[in-house]
Amino acid sequence: MPSASFHFPKGFLWGTATAAHQVEGSNTNNNWHRWEQEGHTNGKSGLACDWWGGRWKEDFDRAAETGQNAHRLSVEWSRIQPAPDRWDEDALERYRSMLRGLRERGITPMVTLHHFTDPLWLAEMGAWETEAVVPLFEKFVRKVVEALKEYCSLWCTVNEPNVYAAGGYLSDTFPPGKKNVRLAMSVLANLARGHAAAYRAIHALQPEARAGYAWHYRPMVPARPWSPLDRLVRNIQYNGLNITFPSAVSTGVMRTPFGRVRIPEAKGTQDFLGINYYSVDTVAFDLRVPGELFGRRFYPKDADLSDSGFNVNTPEGLFDSLRWATRLYPDLPLIVTENGIECADDHIRPRYLAQHIHQMWRGVNFNWPVKGYFHWSLVDNFEWERGWTQRFGLWGLDVETQARLRRPSVDLYAAICKENGLTSGMVEKYCPEVYEKLFPE
Ligand code: FCB
Repeated sequence: MPSASFHFPKGFLWGTATAAHQVEGSNTNNNWHRWEQEGHTNGKSGLACDWWGGRWKEDFDRAAETGQNAHRLSVEWSRIQPAPDRWDEDALERYRSMLRGLRERGITPMVTLHHFTDPLWLAEMGAWETEAVVPLFEKFVRKVVEALKEYCSLWCTVNEPNVYAAGGYLSDTFPPGKKNVRLAMSVLANLARGHAAAYRAIHALQPEARAGYAWHYRPMVPARPWSPLDRLVRNIQYNGLNITFPSAVSTGVMRTPFGRVRIPEAKGTQDFLGINYYSVDTVAFDLRVPGELFGRRFYPKDADLSDSGFNVNTPEGLFDSLRWATRLYPDLPLIVTENGIECADDHIRPRYLAQHIHQMWRGVNFNWPVKGYFHWSLVDNFEWERGWTQRFGLWGLDVETQARLRRPSVDLYAAICKENGLTSGMVEKYCPEVYEKLFPE
C-alpha cells in the first residue's frame, strides 16, 4: 500500500463550528423560540447542549484535547439586547468568559454576529424585511465588538443570508414562513446592507480585525446533462441560490428578478469569504413543482446519503466551491466555515471528513488561499426545523442526560488537526473503504 500524506500550510485553522441557539439552551427571547412553541420544529431546543449553563467548558476541553486550534461560535442578539433600549452586561460578560476560555485553551475564536435568530422585538418590526434593521444591527455589532475585541479579531458578520432568506421567505421552514419572493429579495438586500455596516463598524473599532460573511454555496448539476430543460432549470436554481449576494459584495449591485438594487456600500467589504459547503444537488426539469420554478432538486439513488437523506457525501463539490470563490474574489482568503454530515452511528462521517479534507488539499495545491476548516459540528445540537432528528456532532449528545458520546470521528479529526494534514495511515484505520480513491496505486 502506498504511504502518503496531504499536508496543509503552517498556521492552518482546524476547528469546529457552532451557533448560539443550537448549543446554548434556554434561549426564550428570539423568533426561533416562538417558532418552536408554535410547533414548527421537530422537538424543542430546551437546554440544547447547555452551554449557557456552563457546559461550554467541558466541550471546549474536548476540542482542545483533540488538537483543535480554532472554534467558530455565535453570540445571541436577544440575550445581549433583550429590548431595544436595554443591554444585558451580564450576557456580554458570559461571552467574554467563553472567549477567554477558548484563548486559555489555545483556541482561536471566530465570532458570528448573526446566525439565523432575531430578537423577538426585532421580529415584531419585520426583522430584515425593511432597511430599519441596518442601523439597529450596526449598533448591536458595535456593542459586541467593543466588549469582545480583547479576545477576538476574526468576525463573521452574517451566516448564510441565502438560507435565512429562502427558509423564511420562500419556504415555511424558518420563521416567519411567509413565502413571498419579493420580500425574500428585500431581506437579502438588507442582509447585504447590514453586512456592509457591520464590516465598517468592526474595522472602525478594531483596525486589525478580519471580517467576512459565511456563504452557503450549493453546487448543482443537471440530472441529464444532454437535456436543455434540465440545464435551464439547473441554471435558474443555481443562480438564484448562489450568486445574488456574493456578486453584490463584489460589485455593489444586487441583481434580482425584480431588477437591480444598488448597494454601493457593500462593495469590497470582506477580508475573507466563509464557505459553508455540505452537498451537491442534482436538478431535473419537472412540471410537478411549479413552486420551485419546475426545477426538482434531489440526490441520486446510489448516493452516499446521510441518515435522514438531508445531505450527501459529494466531496468534489468542496473543490468546486473553492474554485468558484477564487474566480469571483481573486486572492481573497477563504475559510471553510462549515462542512459536515448528519450520521448518528458515524458510519459515513470518517470518509466524509477524509474525502472533503482531501478535496480542500487539492485546492491548496492550486495555491488557492484556504486558511482554515471548521467542521460542523463539535457536538450534536438543535438543528433548526429538523430539531433533534439530525446528528452532526463529532461527539454525540444524549439530550435527556446531557452525556456526550465520543464517536470514532473524534479520533480521526484529532489526528488530522495534530498532523496538520491527512495521511494514508489515518484513512487505512478510519475509512479503509475510500483508501483506493484517495491513494490509488
Ligand atoms: C447550516 C447552518 C448550521 C447548521 C448546518 C447543518 O445551514 O448554518 O446552523 O444547521 O446547516
